Amino acid sequence: MKVINKISDMQRIACEVHSQGKTIAVVPTMGYLHEGHLSLVRIARDLADIVVTTIFVNPKQFAPNEDFERYPRDFERDKSLLESVNSDYLFYPEINEIYPTGYSTFIQMQGITKIFEGESRPTHFDGVALVVLKLFNITKADVAVFGQKDFQQTLVIKQLVKDLNIDIKIVVAPIVREANGLAMSSRNRYLSDKERENASIIFIALEEAKRAIASGERRRKIINSIIISTLRSVPEIKIDYVHTVKAHNLELADEFLPGEEIVMLIACWMGRTRLIDNSTTKIPINEFH
Ligand code: PAF
Repeated sequence: MKVINKISDMQRIACEVHSQGKTIAVVPTMGYLHEGHLSLVRIARDLADIVVTTIFVNPKQFAPNEDFERYPRDFERDKSLLESVNSDYLFYPEINEIYPTGYSTFIQMQGITKIFEGESRPTHFDGVALVVLKLFNITKADVAVFGQKDFQQTLVIKQLVKDLNIDIKIVVAPIVREANGLAMSSRNRYLSDKERENASIIFIALEEAKRAIASGERRRKIINSIIISTLRSVPEIKIDYVHTVKAHNLELADEFLPGEEIVMLIACWMGRTRLIDNSTTKIPINEFH
């Protein structure tokens, strides 16, 4: 695997790859890789001839009070993990390479960037959209793979691609979980053993709600209250939000329709660590009542 630090080198390589009639898949990450990231690289391998993984902890998607400085970083470990899953290139730029002195262009998105995660982190998605667009332009990828764990982020990126007519296919890959159900995340590193154990309640709450839906529950407020009461069984958890919405546009409905794909979204604090998770499911077609 070749490590590329400069934008001009990455763009030259991408042009060479395309001139040979080959395709490129990009897996954008912020590093401190785990099995979830590696699953994205494996999927990317099946989708294109050449896989470029990017590692860049993007300062523009962190608010000043957030964890940009302490975000975990381990380049050598990441590099060997990426070699183990056959990423062809690792694009690993310095901050000044992405945002040089005099950098002046920003993205401002409306709609779904303003709700849920966007309410708790108002500048977050504009920062994500900016860096993702830059990474698409730098890697000239034909397809990009993102994890479903950041469900709202995947919708924001699809919207960005649609609105700005970016010629790239977005693929969303399933959440990878620890043995206790906790969704894999680089931020899990912040959790103590006890917190990690307690955090399994998030997956239990999602599964509880899914079971109720499978047995006929379609009312949004009831589904949310099942999740909330399950989460509350662990007093150490502080809920930021719980929302059950239509999966394709995050719209609310008092009652979901048979056959509708919905998503249950959770954000909560476990001590000083903010965790997000989600689960999608289809409202059953069969009539229970
Ligand atoms: O999901 C992430 O790790 C980041 O938000 C992304 C997409 C790499 C942009 O910095």
